[in-house]
Amino acid sequence: MSDFREQRWSLKGMTALVTGGTKGIGYAVVEELAAFGAIVHTCSRNETELTQRIQEWKSKGLQVSGSVCDLKIRAQREKLMETVSSQFDGKLNILINNAGTFIPKETTEFTEEDFSTVMTTNFESAYHLSQLAHPLLKSAGNGNIIFISSVAGVIAIPMCSIYASSKVAMNQLTKNLACEWAKDKIRVNTVAPWVIRTPLLDTKDSNFLEHANRMVLRTPMLRPGEPNEVSSVVAFLCLSCFNSGFVGALVVLWILEFLLKYIYT
Ligand SMILES: NC(=O)c1ccc[n+]([C@@H]2O[C@H](COP(=O)([O-])OP(=O)(O)OC[C@H]3O[C@@H](n4cnc5c(N)ncnc54)[C@H](OP(=O)(O)O)[C@@H]3O)[C@@H](O)[C@H]2O)c1
Repeated sequence: MSDFREQRWSLKGMTALVTGGTKGIGYAVVEELAAFGAIVHTCSRNETELTQRIQEWKSKGLQVSGSVCDLKIRAQREKLMETVSSQFDGKLNILINNAGTFIPKETTEFTEEDFSTVMTTNFESAYHLSQLAHPLLKSAGNGNIIFISSVAGVIAIPMCSIYASSKVAMNQLTKNLACEWAKDKIRVNTVAPWVIRTPLLDTKDSNFLEHANRMVLRTPMLRPGEPNEVSSVVAFLCLSCFNSGFVGALVVLWILEFLLKYIYT
């Protein structure tokens, strides 16, 4: 029985790249995958914080390494994937496109720079990393890509038109890659969380905070989600027992009372 469980409910020996693993959801995903036995590489821009996190994981007996990388910059993404490839002998089982950014503003206030920052961090980098990872995922023989999208890419939430568009693009990309790369034994899925308690939402914008409070009030459990409630779903989708299931799925977390229409008046 325990052999059966270990084969199906384990990531032992699997290799994983989780972007943005030093905080919030990414941090929880790194821990969850590593605790299931995966060997994880992560990245972020803040070297001090990254070094601290890696020490913490090491002290917990988890196998995690990291690179400083600004995912907005194409050359840095290429360098990241070269590092991953040499560290994991050209084979990658799991790519979690998690890193993301959010700027709360009304559409009329967004600048060209805001547009570029949000779209490049959230969508372009995930698209490019998936392209770069493709040969490594294919070589692994059972690859997994998971995009961390958002409920903002499913319904209309105030003050996030660029962010929401980046997530809609991600949701569509999931379907395209799932169909294109199934022949290479690469599964592609998306996890779309609702409001999760992370530093991403540490904003002083009182308008957005008011909207965020209203969003929580429309959540059946009347509280924001926690990062480890997202990471458990991510790990579930990576497990080998789902090797032939879950392809091109959008898993929406923290379901809303009004899923199809967000009423904020
Ligand atoms: N929190 C929510 O309510 C929520 C809801 C739905 C979806 N999501 C999505 O979940 C994902 C994670 O969000 P989170 O809430 O965990 O965010 P977070 O707490 O702000 O953490 C973001 C992580 O990404 C890294 N990062 C950001 N920009 C980067 C860049 N240009 N290059 C490399 N690393 C970068 C950050 O490190 P550095 O800043 O040091 O680089 C950090 O490790 C995002 O895609 C977000 O859109 C969040």
